[in-house]
Amino acid sequence: MKVVETLGDLRAVCGQLPRPLGLVPTMGALHEGHLSLVRAAAERCHSVGVSLFVNPAQFAPTEDLAAYPRDLDGDLAKLAAEAVDVVWTPPSDEVYPPGFQTWVEVEHVTRPLEGAQRPEHFRGVTTVVTKLFHAFEPQFAYFGQKDAQQCVVIRRMAADLNFPLEVVVRPTVREPDGLAMSSRNKYLSPAERRAASVLYRALTRAAEAYQDGQRQAQALRQRMVETLAAEPLAETQYVSVANPASLEELDGPVESALLSMAVKVGKTRLIDNWLVGDRPLGG
Ligand code: PAJ
Repeated sequence: MKVVETLGDLRAVCGQLPRPLGLVPTMGALHEGHLSLVRAAAERCHSVGVSLFVNPAQFAPTEDLAAYPRDLDGDLAKLAAEAVDVVWTPPSDEVYPPGFQTWVEVEHVTRPLEGAQRPEHFRGVTTVVTKLFHAFEPQFAYFGQKDAQQCVVIRRMAADLNFPLEVVVRPTVREPDGLAMSSRNKYLSPAERRAASVLYRALTRAAEAYQDGQRQAQALRQRMVETLAAEPLAETQYVSVANPASLEELDGPVESALLSMAVKVGKTRLIDNWLVGDRPLGG
């Protein structure tokens, strides 16, 4: 496994690697969710590349950039135990050269949900992912359903900018009580950690209602809202039943839907989602 910092070194290594190459973009602090993407890439691709870069452009000034967990040595040890060929750990100025002023912006699908609460977030994500796609030139790029809107946005961007690659979306990896794995779970106190499973309970209650034949978007939304309201440590930011392709909020009867939510537990902001019906994210 080669670990490189400069773009020049990365390009030199990637130029030698057998194709197809699968890329797993990350911000480090790796957990089993990230590693599931690495394993999926290794299964399908002859080479696997991983990026570890806490991307300042996707954090608002009020968000947790400085406090974001970093563990380079631990991350490299985890990746060395997997079938990874190259890891890029760029310094910030390698990604954002002095004088940087060029952004990649996706329009409609970045507006609702996370975009409504974090207005500059997705242009930071799409800009850095564009740079990663140019740097590694992967044939497959792996993303987790955990960040469902990110998947929709990246699929849209890859299609709109004609990137010659497939965006692969993999299922969310969860703790035994259902909490989606996330680098931010480290911030939770023991009481908050117990309360945090309410997101999963809310999603599964709505998904069960759907399984039982409930098709009214408002009723599915209500299931989630009520479940979340019963947890005193949880403060709901949004609860959504949206079209999995356009991310537009749905009313009336639905066939396929993305159920999603953002909830603050203490100071920690958690997101989670569930797909019901057959329609894939961004499809
Ligand atoms: P990060 O939060 O580190 O996540 C990297 C990838 O791991 C994302 O595709 C995310 O959806 C996936 N992931 C996170 N938790 C997961 C879980 N529990 N199960 C499955 N997959 C999970 O997402 C980002 O970084 C950044 O926005 C990035 C795309 C790297 C751009 O900076």
